[in-house]
Amino acid sequence: MPEKTWAMAHPSLALIKYWGKSDKERNLPATPSLALTLSGLHSKVEVQAGSSDQVILDGKEQPQERYQLFFDNLRRVTGTSMYFRVQAWNDFPTAAGLASSSSGFAAMAAACAALTGQTLPLDILSGIARLGSGSASRAVYGGFTLLEARAQTATPLRGPEFWPDLRVLLCLVEAGPKAVSSREAMEQTRLTSPYYSAWVEDAPRLTRQACEALEQKDLDRLGPLIRLSYQRMFATMFSADPPILYWKPGSLEIIHLAEELRRSGISVWETMDAGPQVKLFCPAADSDRVRQILEQRLPAIRVIVAGPAPGVRWGQGSCPV
Ligand code: PMV
Repeated sequence: MPEKTWAMAHPSLALIKYWGKSDKERNLPATPSLALTLSGLHSKVEVQAGSSDQVILDGKEQPQERYQLFFDNLRRVTGTSMYFRVQAWNDFPTAAGLASSSSGFAAMAAACAALTGQTLPLDILSGIARLGSGSASRAVYGGFTLLEARAQTATPLRGPEFWPDLRVLLCLVEAGPKAVSSREAMEQTRLTSPYYSAWVEDAPRLTRQACEALEQKDLDRLGPLIRLSYQRMFATMFSADPPILYWKPGSLEIIHLAEELRRSGISVWETMDAGPQVKLFCPAADSDRVRQILEQRLPAIRVIVAGPAPGVRWGQGSCPV
């Protein structure tokens, strides 16, 4: 059995959103999601056996209860009784709506499984990662992935080479951690929003249409679906009791700027997650121009340019990068 293992993964950004759980205990999604694994941002972990489970993220010890279900399930699947001491690092803001939990749990699943001496297939890793965070089941795979409603594992649809000239501009409006976790916010929405059931009912149709547009690499068709999905997801949050509001003035400024750019003929489409950051999909040929306009008009906003990335990698010893 190796003494130490490492893994690295990239975050999974949903084009069509998962929001709400059909089974809280097993962390199963109520809606399907279609996502892209993003280059440019990394979560890295190193794992050794310990006397209890422990996660240190960017130098800070994390509350154990957030990880219990994940570790217990990992032990069950691998048939081991060992405990895991995890050191993790993100090279981007954590818990700020940049999907750090997706890449973090995907990397943890791979590195911890490797420490048990087993080589698990990716779909099993995807199921383990899901217990930490639904979106992590997608981040195990590179390129474009689908997580069906109530599914235990994500499905890889297309590798990162499928659409190499798609870009995502990650616009950092505020780097601090969010006040309400996506887990809590989803539950509050499910329990209190009168629009929640309509959202769940409509999501499969939107996902099917988006998968078709993706197959054609047709951003003019996919973009409006990306926009509908996040706007409908937020409509359920705005209508929760009490309402959940992740948006900041800077978020809205970017949304309006995207609209203005579309009117000028650029196919640029925004999405948001559980945080104030805005992510813009556009063709690679337009990404420099969009970035320049963003930086000129909204100088306070930091922009990271990402594209399709590969899935999780792992190995023995310390992480080579
Ligand atoms: O899997 P979680 O708990 O990180 O929730 C993901 C929720 C969204 O980012 C808003 C949507 C998604 O599908 O990634």
